[in-house]
Amino acid sequence: MSGIVGYIGWQNAVPILIDTLKRLEYRGYDSTGIAVIKDSSLGIRKRVGDIDVLKESLYKEPLNGMIGIGHTRWATHGKPTEENAHPHIAGKIAIVHNGIIENYLSLKESLLKEGRKFLSDTDTEVIAHLIDKNFTPSAGSGPAGSGLESAVQKTLKEISGTYALVAISPADPEKIVIARNENPIVIGLGRGEFFIASDASAILSYVKDIIFLDDGEIAVIKKEGVQVYDRNNKQVEKNIRRLGLNPILMEKGGYKHFILKEIFEQPRAIWDTVRGRVSGGEIIFEDFKLSSSDIKKIKRIFITGCGTSWHAGLIGKFMIEGLSRIPVEVDISSELRYRNPIIDSDTLIIAISESGETVDTIASLRDGKKKGAKTVSICNTIESSLSRESVSTINIHAGPEISVASTKTFTSSLSALYILSVYLAKLKGVIDDNETAGLINDIVTVMGKIEDVMGLEEEIEGLSKMFYEKKGFLYLGRGINYPVALEGAMKMKELSYIYAEGYPGGEMKHGPIALIDEHTPVVILAPQNILYEKSLIDIEEVKARNGVVIVFATEGDTEVVKMARHVLYVPHASEYLTPIIMSIPLQFLAYYVALRRGLNVDRPRNLAKSVTVE
Ligand code: AGP
Repeated sequence: MSGIVGYIGWQNAVPILIDTLKRLEYRGYDSTGIAVIKDSSLGIRKRVGDIDVLKESLYKEPLNGMIGIGHTRWATHGKPTEENAHPHIAGKIAIVHNGIIENYLSLKESLLKEGRKFLSDTDTEVIAHLIDKNFTPSAGSGPAGSGLESAVQKTLKEISGTYALVAISPADPEKIVIARNENPIVIGLGRGEFFIASDASAILSYVKDIIFLDDGEIAVIKKEGVQVYDRNNKQVEKNIRRLGLNPILMEKGGYKHFILKEIFEQPRAIWDTVRGRVSGGEIIFEDFKLSSSDIKKIKRIFITGCGTSWHAGLIGKFMIEGLSRIPVEVDISSELRYRNPIIDSDTLIIAISESGETVDTIASLRDGKKKGAKTVSICNTIESSLSRESVSTINIHAGPEISVASTKTFTSSLSALYILSVYLAKLKGVIDDNETAGLINDIVTVMGKIEDVMGLEEEIEGLSKMFYEKKGFLYLGRGINYPVALEGAMKMKELSYIYAEGYPGGEMKHGPIALIDEHTPVVILAPQNILYEKSLIDIEEVKARNGVVIVFATEGDTEVVKMARHVLYVPHASEYLTPIIMSIPLQFLAYYVALRRGLNVDRPRNLAKSVTVE
């Protein structure tokens, strides 16, 4: 998905657009661009590459103006070229857009027949031409009148798809018009100035008061104020949210990369997830609209998410089934939404999403709601689409995660799943007060041990020297640590671009064992749990084929060191909490291998922080 910004006020828009785009760069960085209005003319600059390329061009040839829009792109339609970069211009209109217009090809054909010329292969340029075509000079206020907002309103009636859209025009120069449908966009309220962004984190160093636009709404922003209209052109009063997000959290804080900072933030992030929800042996969820009678009626749970969030869901299954004995199915969201699952009012859907904007996850939740399911979301972004559409939401409070690769939000999601599992088990009457207090004590104990795991950094950095040129990795885990193997492999893939596969240890001999030779490092998670002896067999089977084994074992284990050359020790944790402990060293491993390969660890190629397109 892409990042959108805008500014209207009394300052030069350009430095603000560049600064806020920089804070959204994790959303996409194939190409970037800005457009500003000055003296009723439009200045535009677009570049392939990240914000710094655009910034350098503006340094050499400045633009300025007090109204402007900007965009950092993750390509959906059309390759990352200057022509395909936003803003897109048509006649007297400049727009930036995030989302997908499903009927853009048929619209483009009719516009071409009318003689309109296109410079790009994007769906966004079609919107620009439609707004230009629908534009008549301003003769009234509000979308019912004419002018830019009316042209946008007419255009939205012609397109189908998802959008967060921002438009300006030198023909109607004193305003910015924005529109939202299934893609987030917020307005920051300053003094005589207004800031626009795809997510609030980009503008929190300028404003604290934020308006979150809802689907179907249009906002007309002038220096004098903001007017919001619904899809029936009725003016609506919007709540103003005062956000306490500290912009300092948006900085690297002395770390070399955001991802390293976020790996080290995990002890605090997990504490912030749990704090305030466990006290006096009880679990308390604020704003949790599921009553105990609702929960007692639940016969089945679906957990859904994508990527790392799906991995968290796989681990959540072990926790919830193990503690509450409620059957759990886990599905990748892009699969769940299309397979017509058996869901009814006795079903609970738990949707996991760091951004809360992953379109497949939102769609799965919506489909489940239509079938009568109760819904809970586990998110890290307040007021995200997913959290707003679920009946209850558990915010993991991990703080902004700027690096594209998820680290602290993975372990914080696991922590949220764990306390939710205890909560469900207690409400179902499967565990008593003592057991509840014991389980709470387990996570408090683990939180105390996570700092120790950070101490593995140096050893793992040393290990990365031996493996950063390998062609592939295999990760093996059993039981609740199989999804940890998947997540470890995901981190290696997305950061170092080395192929890596996570597999259940017991399944290796049914195929992947063919991959084993002296060139393929095999990471084996072998904590001292009920499957420990089996994991020792996995180590032996890999070694018997000259495989190079890297074992993560429990502190105090004296067996494994006799079997493997590379053994790293993590603190003991209960069965359900071992994944939190085990996944952190795997984050370090992927980070240092990628670093040795000279890659951009915060913004890996082709990826975006949250996939808001299908
Ligand atoms: C993981 O490192 C990636 N960032 C990616 O797999 C991510 O987990 C996935 O796109 C889902 O994002 P979400 O949690 O914001 O829904």
